Amino acid sequence: HIPVIRSLAQLRRWRAAARERGLEVGVVPTMGALHQGHLDLVKASLARHPLTVMTLFVNPMQDLDKYPRTLESDLDLLRTLLPSGSRPLRGLGISENDSFRPPHSETTTEPPVRGLGVSEDEGFRPAASHAGNRADAPGAGVGSEFIPSSQTPLVVFNPAPDVMYPLKGELQDLTRHRGVSVDVRGYGDVMEGASRPQFFRGVATVCTKLFNAVEPDHAYFGQKDIQQALLLRIMLTDLLMAHPSPDHLHILPTTRAEDNLALSSRNAYLDPAERAVAPVLHRALSAARDLYTEGSTGEEMLAAATQVVLDEQTRILDEKVPAELKLDYFEVFDKDTFEPVRGEVKPGTPVVLAGAVWVGRTRLIDNLLLGWD
Ligand code: PAJ
Repeated sequence: HIPVIRSLAQLRRWRAAARERGLEVGVVPTMGALHQGHLDLVKASLARHPLTVMTLFVNPMQDLDKYPRTLESDLDLLRTLLPSGSRPLRGLGISENDSFRPPHSETTTEPPVRGLGVSEDEGFRPAASHAGNRADAPGAGVGSEFIPSSQTPLVVFNPAPDVMYPLKGELQDLTRHRGVSVDVRGYGDVMEGASRPQFFRGVATVCTKLFNAVEPDHAYFGQKDIQQALLLRIMLTDLLMAHPSPDHLHILPTTRAEDNLALSSRNAYLDPAERAVAPVLHRALSAARDLYTEGSTGEEMLAAATQVVLDEQTRILDEKVPAELKLDYFEVFDKDTFEPVRGEVKPGTPVVLAGAVWVGRTRLIDNLLLGWD
């Protein structure tokens, strides 16, 4: 069973109880519509930490008007990650390892324990002491609480928009957003952020909020969105944040299909002809990587990647493939400063090689890390 936490108060009580038990917490922020790439992040966190929070929040500050909402199937996918034996023991006297609390809508034969029957919208209570009491109290399985334990190593935090944006009217006009936003200047306004400056402001703002809500010991992000992951690490450094600390933000390799196309929820929009063209992006980046390995300039690497796209465009015309391919950009940049690299790149210099193409109406991104990771 995977508990779904929706309120901040409940999350904070869960977190305090985890801390009291000395259990480390990993977080995996997502917007749902899960695929194997997301699952690999959750798996990594589950393997390394006793507790994992997968956050599932479609962030309105990231201009994603029509994002798919698939909570039920997302939960089905997440369940495949847990050993089937780890079903919660319901309605028993509660011990440390038996601490799933059924939602309060469910009936229970147990008498309520005074002061512990918790409703979703009740106000602040000193979390640690109550959590401690609850775990020890006989028959404490009443209320809507999820107590961290080996029975529930994974919880989902799925807040409503006004939980994440609590100021009145905060989301009414995103272009003139009132309230706090986090802007990682010089890092969020290049490449993926060049044509949409609000995008990384949305990412940095919501991740700051999620980090403040969960207070994770570790956080997991995909290399697939390398600019996002590196920008967030820079943000943690610059804001002196400790939960997680910058070196506890982990970037895990991109999960790919057999033909090396990076998995993405957008791949579902590709028709069969487009899907067959899409791996060109990874082929182009790989051609540039070959040059890096031999010792080359950034300029030459960009030219090599671009040539692969041009060749594919020629093939599309010659063979009358019913798909349109357009290059958006390729970039070679320093992983710490985000400065473009154009001159000689000595093998071993840590750089990122990133690119984006349009296949029909779908924009695909991918990248390779060269000389590091
Ligand atoms: P989302 O697009 O749902 O992605 C959630 C996480 O999954 C990100 O860290 C992303 O890089 C990772 N991911 C996506 N595809 C992957 C793949 N093929 N292999 C490995 N990891 C992959 O990114 C976001 O959500 C949002 O911007 C968020 C960080 C949640 C803030 O709203």
